[in-house]
Amino acid sequence: MTQLTPITFHEIEIDAIATATGRVAVFADTDGKLDTGARRVNKLMRGALLRLIESDRFEQMKAGDAVTLAFPVGMAAEAVDIVRLPRNADQTQARAAGASLAKLRGQMDVLVMAGAVRRTAEVAYGFAMRDYAFEDHKTSAKPRAGEVRVMCGKVDEVQAAATPLMAIAEGAFMTRDLTNAPANVLTTTTFAEQLAEMSALGLKVEVLEEADLEKLGMGSLLCVGQGSASPSKVVVMQWNGGAKDAKPLALIGKGVVFDTGGISIKPAAGMEDMTMDMGGAGVVSGVMRSLALRGAKANVVGLVGLVENMPSSTAVRPGDVVTSMKGDTIEVINTDAEGRLVLCDVMWYAQDRFAPAAMIDLATLTGAIIIGLGHDNAGVFSNNDVLCNAFLKAAQTEGEGAWRMPLGQCYDDLLKSRIADMKNVGGRAAGSITAAQFLQRFVKGDTPWIHLDIAGVASVKSETALAPVGATGWGVAALNRLVSDMYETE
Ligand code: BES
Ligand code: MN
Ligand code: ZN
Repeated sequence: MTQLTPITFHEIEIDAIATATGRVAVFADTDGKLDTGARRVNKLMRGALLRLIESDRFEQMKAGDAVTLAFPVGMAAEAVDIVRLPRNADQTQARAAGASLAKLRGQMDVLVMAGAVRRTAEVAYGFAMRDYAFEDHKTSAKPRAGEVRVMCGKVDEVQAAATPLMAIAEGAFMTRDLTNAPANVLTTTTFAEQLAEMSALGLKVEVLEEADLEKLGMGSLLCVGQGSASPSKVVVMQWNGGAKDAKPLALIGKGVVFDTGGISIKPAAGMEDMTMDMGGAGVVSGVMRSLALRGAKANVVGLVGLVENMPSSTAVRPGDVVTSMKGDTIEVINTDAEGRLVLCDVMWYAQDRFAPAAMIDLATLTGAIIIGLGHDNAGVFSNNDVLCNAFLKAAQTEGEGAWRMPLGQCYDDLLKSRIADMKNVGGRAAGSITAAQFLQRFVKGDTPWIHLDIAGVASVKSETALAPVGATGWGVAALNRLVSDMYETE
């Protein structure tokens, strides 16, 4: 797994500025008031810092942006990075500041003189999140080097605030690694193996194999993987950190390790992107990792359906009718609408076995959600306003875009089949909504439920606030926050 760059917190030691190698970072704003770190840098550099702060260039920078002065006079460091940040920076600005420094770092050591910055732990979180590169398959890549030393006031407080944030970053890194991994490396088998290893963190992990899934009657999930040489699996991860009798929150992830479309095969152009079609399962895995690492006082169960959607002589055909674990029959009109076929059985199993307090599924489910919302917001569908609003608030706080979409009988009607209980597609119109509507048929009674369509946000072609190009880890922070807001009452 990609390792977090080690970040340590220390008492301010002003003489370290002159002798530190690598990079030195300081914070300043346009008010011209320098903290002790910035004052020392300015003095060593014979006033260059003040000249910068008074320049038009600095004026035009946004809070959180950084500018570099290279090979500074009077210092051992190769560069000084000056970040524009108000002393009372908000969380977004503080994280952006950390991210700016991470982008400049390369493999160098960094000494961050955080001085009086109010949200030092958030700066560190932004740094940790943005300092990610997926280099598993670069033969020229050296092991990531360098460390970050943060000098600040109230070291114990900052450290205490940073520890749970680093657990989130660790979870997000796992999600990104899984989502970035090619499909010949991350098969259903190696995916399940990686999750099984998380039992070392105190999670209870079970792997259900094809024979188990057949016994359970998961004809819908199994039909998706029946054309692949890789066996379908469901992995169940339990974190029981809450009260003994508290019903768990269930998180369910679509884990299609590769989606060719099956017999309804996708066009060649861009098909390589379908290595990320297990992004939902990746987020569920990352959240479970974060909860375990920070010892969350909540009961949460994560379930992922791992399959590969391939065309072959054994693959499911358009027109086939399959029977779900619930007992409802499904006419498979389009084998490329496979995510919902996987999720419906895992959702049913989760409710059958755990009677969860609430259920949230995540899936790179539809191209239509990208047409609707682009790459900045995931589609949010829910049958419960209280749960949904709590999630939207958590996502907003974490800077993870999320936008609620409608559900309704008129959309459900589009799934009527002539020969079975339902079709797996509802036509071109409202494609993301009919997909959600299909899933809602597998929500028991009034179990509070959210469906997150993350096709647009799980992996991106241009960098975001806290992630480089590629897998973002969207949702790990928001779901972690939802758990602490709603399910950790102590
Ligand atoms: N995995 C895709 C959705 C997707 C598209 C994810 C682009 C990420 C980026 C999903 O399985 C799929 O193929 N959906 C079809 C549904 C259609 C056949 C009803 C789609 O969106 O075209
Ligand atoms: Mn598909
Ligand atoms: Zn898919």
